[in-house]
Amino acid sequence: MAPRPLVAGNWKMNGSRAALKELAAMAEGYDAALRAKVDLMICPPAPLVFLASAAALGSRIAIGGQTCHPESSGAFTGEVSAAMLADAGASAVIVGHSERRQYNRETDADVAARAKAAIAEGLTAIVCVGETQAEREAGKALAVVARQLGRSVPEGATPQTVIVAYEPVWAIGTGLTPTTDDVAEVHALIRKRLVSRHGRQAAGIRLLYGGSVKPANAKDLMGVADVDGALVGGASLKAADFLAIAAAFR
Ligand code: PGA
Repeated sequence: MAPRPLVAGNWKMNGSRAALKELAAMAEGYDAALRAKVDLMICPPAPLVFLASAAALGSRIAIGGQTCHPESSGAFTGEVSAAMLADAGASAVIVGHSERRQYNRETDADVAARAKAAIAEGLTAIVCVGETQAEREAGKALAVVARQLGRSVPEGATPQTVIVAYEPVWAIGTGLTPTTDDVAEVHALIRKRLVSRHGRQAAGIRLLYGGSVKPANAKDLMGVADVDGALVGGASLKAADFLAIAAAFR
């Protein structure tokens, strides 16, 4: 059976209490017909996780964090733990987003430690992988994704504990997207690697595509084999755009 699709929104360092009205509008537009077809999730910045969880209560829109620290508590000024996210109502957390890998110098090992911490707290770890433009041009996209996947996803991954997001770095926030053939090639590789390492259960792990997903290209990208949903940045800030992307699964 194909995994149930998920459209997840990553608000990054955007949004305020006022932006929660967009979440309310998403809840309003997430009607029974859409709920039957696709799961929705919003990952707001940490200060909004608790309020967003409260606002989403009863809507079946899940709330996630954008990163977590490997430790559950301690002297780590400015950090947020998986336990805190879970306590605030999150059910998932993004780990290893390319912006974290780039600006916070997170390595594959750091990402795996964060994913493990998330899973230990009962959260689903949304593990991000993806090549840079230079890596794609050098013909190394598949090798890079395979390496990141192997080192960033913890042992024993299941559909409950892990989601993988393929996000080519050059497609994030640029309006550029890979061809559907390129997405299919990478997702097939991810699926194959997950199943060979984690066993048959890994066939149910959701594989999201991310990078400039918009209402106009959602149907094409979401129709690709082994694409079980999207991780959406910019277009997740407005309910109308986010719902239009989710509607690709209607
Ligand atoms: P974008 O971001 O949709 O704005 O390209 C995607 C992401 O970073 O998850």
